[in-house]
Amino acid sequence: MNTKQSAATAVAAPAMDVERVRQDFPILKRTMRGKPFVYLDNGATALKPQAVIDEEMRYYSELGANIHRGVYEFSETASALYDGARDKVARLIGAPNPRQVVFTKSATESVNLIVYGWALKNIGQGDEICVTEIEHHANFVPWQALAERTGARLRFLPLVPETGLLDLSNLNDLINERTKIVAVTAMSNVTGYMPPVETILERAKAVGAVTVVDGAQWVSHASVDVEALQADFLVFSAHKMCGPTGVGVLYGREQLLEEMDPFLYGGDMVLRVRTDKTVFKEIPDKFEAGTPNIAGVIGFGRAVDYLLDIGMDAIHAHEQQLLAYALEQMSGIDGVTCYGPTDLNVRGGILSFNVGDAHPHDTGSILDEDGIAVRTGLHCAHPFMCALGIPGTTRASFYLYNNREDIDRLVQSVRRVQEIFA
Ligand SMILES: Cc1ncc(COP(=O)(O)O)c(C=O)c1O
Repeated sequence: MNTKQSAATAVAAPAMDVERVRQDFPILKRTMRGKPFVYLDNGATALKPQAVIDEEMRYYSELGANIHRGVYEFSETASALYDGARDKVARLIGAPNPRQVVFTKSATESVNLIVYGWALKNIGQGDEICVTEIEHHANFVPWQALAERTGARLRFLPLVPETGLLDLSNLNDLINERTKIVAVTAMSNVTGYMPPVETILERAKAVGAVTVVDGAQWVSHASVDVEALQADFLVFSAHKMCGPTGVGVLYGREQLLEEMDPFLYGGDMVLRVRTDKTVFKEIPDKFEAGTPNIAGVIGFGRAVDYLLDIGMDAIHAHEQQLLAYALEQMSGIDGVTCYGPTDLNVRGGILSFNVGDAHPHDTGSILDEDGIAVRTGLHCAHPFMCALGIPGTTRASFYLYNNREDIDRLVQSVRRVQEIFA
């Protein structure tokens, strides 16, 4: 991997009014360790705008009722808001029908729902599952566990450590007529690399494999059109896109969702229950047993409105400008190694780096002293780190409310790390 990246140096016109956006996020007014707070841990979770916090609060203070079971006004209003959030999410990703949007508790649960609902009854000995070496554990460990349980073989599209890109030279061998599932991230949580998902999916389709796209980092940062993507499944989480924690999404092709078994059984997912037989509701309800995270889903609907008002393309362009600026600034610091492709067109706003031999946790602690929040360590991507041959990185990840001053503060603090460990 490269230390000096060829970042675009020209100052582009601002993609959005970031100073106005910052006013919407109350936490940004806080200090941390006595310093103005700089939040660069958006890969882990995003901050929430006041509008989302208010929306969630409004459910508790003005409605409070359960959904899909009360015949009174407040329950009906809560149900309409919950179901309305599904419509908004469907619009956000270009899903043809809101029925194809299932609410779970996280992207992790969404992957597990595919494993339990579809894969366990369709995968067996002799079958193959193909993932990449750069997956987050959420899109890796469930497939590994499935392979162990069924006797299927797990195969990997490898990383080229020197370029930060996936090696697709053996694509036709790694995805072949035995392949039943191909699961790939649309954006790495370690380097922001956006692999050529279309190419991988095209090969998967040619051999009849079911495709799963991990959009946990992607959907929050770019315009997504599932129709154009042609993925069978897409998973992502609300909390990484200004929404509440405890809400995830599974988008699926209608026919596949209909074939799938429920993963959780109980109330609200049934049409008729007799002592000898239960008939389940149709999709998506058959996957949403029990009382869901009502306030969270309603808050998520507001987060989708918020992001769409600003525009996903503008958000993506803003993050790319920040990334280019950050890479340019970091390349001026001796001993800093940045990871990821040099071509910024295949990257989102994530910058993983190391400062000489300093352990990422030490780097993170010094940044913390300076009021800066980043993620350090393995980033739930152990196979990725093994492929890079490093014990971890420090990761700065950007979102719509970050500005150039945040990067300046980061760079200033990284210089301090470099001086301490030189
Ligand atoms: C690429 C990627 N996939 C999946 C996940 C899992 O998301 P969650 O923890 O919300 O289930 C994450 C979380 O960091 C991620 O970055």
